[in-house]
Amino acid sequence: PTNPQMEREQSVLRREGCRAKGGAPGFKVAILGAAGGIGQPLAMLMKMNPLVSVLHLYDVVNSPGVTADISHMDTGAVVRGFLGQQQLESALTGMDLVVIPAGVPRKPGMTRDDLFNINAGIVKTLCEGIAKCCPNAIVNLISNPVNSTVPIAAEVFKKAGTYDPKKLLGVTMLDVVRANTFVAEVLGLDPREVDVPVVGGHAGVTILPLLSQVKPPCSFTPEETEYLTKRIQDGGTEVVQAKAGTGSATLSMAYAAVKFADRCLRGLRGDAGIVECAFVASQVTELPFFASKVKLGRGGAEEVHQLGPLNEYERAGLEKAKKELEASIQKGVSFIRK
Ligand code: NAD
Ligand code: LMR
Repeated sequence: PTNPQMEREQSVLRREGCRAKGGAPGFKVAILGAAGGIGQPLAMLMKMNPLVSVLHLYDVVNSPGVTADISHMDTGAVVRGFLGQQQLESALTGMDLVVIPAGVPRKPGMTRDDLFNINAGIVKTLCEGIAKCCPNAIVNLISNPVNSTVPIAAEVFKKAGTYDPKKLLGVTMLDVVRANTFVAEVLGLDPREVDVPVVGGHAGVTILPLLSQVKPPCSFTPEETEYLTKRIQDGGTEVVQAKAGTGSATLSMAYAAVKFADRCLRGLRGDAGIVECAFVASQVTELPFFASKVKLGRGGAEEVHQLGPLNEYERAGLEKAKKELEASIQKGVSFIRK
């Protein structure tokens, strides 16, 4: 009697073999937390990305269903599902890029830091798996609080002796996506024509849009600057409140995560001129981690750009951002070193 599961697996392997022989371009990508609110649309969008040849979907619940569903899409990537801690190592082995949206989201009234107690342990376990099974992979960390989970991941990799600061990127792309949208609204432009650098971190006042550096060049009144800065900083809370207890941004986040992952893969492929904002190990300020524009290449975040000229409003914002960031970074580091 035929075993449909085995047949499917064999056909997957045959397709992979064909790809390998043909030398077709393609990267192996794992999503950890793939059955969640972000994970599911992220998996769908990743399956549509022609740069992805193999897509591993890992979660502690429901990944078989999500995998079966996504695997019927007639796009190139081969999809495999992995369920539970005992399958984490198989999910990670051989991966070029690991995207992590695993962890609990906020409810109204909570800060991202309120998620620390649960998500810190989840990120630690997943990063231990990465250090063991795919230490050279690029890591895109989405789980909140990003300002602390990135330092946690760095400490885990240091402990394992695998830390490459260029390959660990906290995903702040949603802040840029929001900033482009809100600024375009004020300017009456198509958001696709707008580029707003957002630096600092990914929580409240640590989110620092540099409105003086918007492209195309433009100027804002003090009222517009105040409105836009606050709206961008509170964008996550706006969604948390609208969802009224059912979670935080998932669809715009999946869009932002795939936009960012695609840029990382283009960098890995060797494309020139790939520059995006991300929260990375940095010497741009006195803090060990900071979000700013980075150049993405074969080695990950190959260059971290300076902030460029700031106006008085932004300089004041930077001081506030650094104060909160310092504490969040320290909290993450102590979680592993304690
Ligand atoms: P969700 O609860 O809908 O999904 C989280 C998924 O993680 C679930 O499927 C859950 O089973 C899984 N999970 C839990 N523990 C796990 C483990 N040990 N290993 C693997 N998977 C595990 O939440 P969501 O809305 O998808 O949000 C996920 C995280 O992303 C939250 O921490 C949220 O705050 C964060 N987030 C970050 C940004 C950003 O801009 N960086 C934006 C939105 C959300
Ligand atoms: C966001 O910015 O939407 C995420 O960080 C989720 C949240 O808790 O706001």
